[in-house]
Amino acid sequence: MDQQLRDLVCGMPKAELHIHIEGSLEPELIFDLARRNGVALPYPDVASLRRAYAFRDLQSFLDIYYAGASVLLHEQDFYDMTWAYLARAHADQVRHVEIFFDPQTHTERGVPFATVIGGIHRALRDADARWGISGALIMCFLRHLSQGDAMATLEQALPHRAMIIGVGLDSSERGNPPEKFADVFARCRQLGLRLVAHAGEEGPPAYIWSALDTLQVERIDHGVRCLEDSALTERLARSATPLTVCPLSNVKLRVFDRIGDHNLLALLEAGIAATVNSDDPAYFGGYINDNFVAVFEALPLGREHARALAMNSFNAAFLPAGKKQALLSEVQAYFAA
Ligand code: ADE
Ligand code: ZN
Repeated sequence: MDQQLRDLVCGMPKAELHIHIEGSLEPELIFDLARRNGVALPYPDVASLRRAYAFRDLQSFLDIYYAGASVLLHEQDFYDMTWAYLARAHADQVRHVEIFFDPQTHTERGVPFATVIGGIHRALRDADARWGISGALIMCFLRHLSQGDAMATLEQALPHRAMIIGVGLDSSERGNPPEKFADVFARCRQLGLRLVAHAGEEGPPAYIWSALDTLQVERIDHGVRCLEDSALTERLARSATPLTVCPLSNVKLRVFDRIGDHNLLALLEAGIAATVNSDDPAYFGGYINDNFVAVFEALPLGREHARALAMNSFNAAFLPAGKKQALLSEVQAYFAA
């Protein structure tokens, strides 16, 4: 990849819409927090923890990811994790971020909901004040747990409703189809929350259909398996339903064998509003610009694809119209220069 294209892609203004904040916890910070909080880890040091990051599939990653999150106990821990991510995102020219968080991973361990959201939200406020990076929070329900558990989590979230823009669905996809959460998503829709769901990462196209039709989500997280179903591909393209694609994640979790096999270009060519995101950057080998560089190096993508991906990221964002327009104009000005 030539240096000019790399600089163009890294320097362009962008939004990140698929980042699990617990997946931004770097091994060094995991060990710092473990020490600070007196939490014992099943790994003696950073290097051995990193060596465990060789995943067979989504579940083998999730087991380690939930273990890593066990060091998060206090509001300041959630703040430090989020602040570290936002500093990296700012360096990658991210102007707006929609952050996933998994409250059940913490409330199950006895950490209060207010502690979790308080620390994350305080870092978002500080980053906006310091760098002008805007942020919003999307609360994810863990799909390996029951709908009743998700409903109880929604109840705990209600006092913090103003800090939450939407809800999502993550964790073990296979065997946990979207329709398992029909009632809780219907309730969230009544509450005016924006709706997204992970679907078609490991799971079949049928899960994307039910995320759209039963949950009525506005964006699909991953969704890369949509190309196996031509009617679905057409539906996503015609309805301009964005996909938040995470290329390095897909290779690490063996959705694709190699980055050169990734279907990002095919998605764009099918008319789908794909975006590029990092998913769990501390675990998958890089932040958003690392993902952009990886796909631009491996696939025949050029300047117009870069512009489309930057525009898609802001078009897909849950931003007020005026702010969205200002950011889209910033992209156009960047590419006109
Ligand atoms: N939680 C964190 N990362 C995830 C992913 N890629 N898929 C499902 N759940 C997740
Ligand atoms: Zn994800």
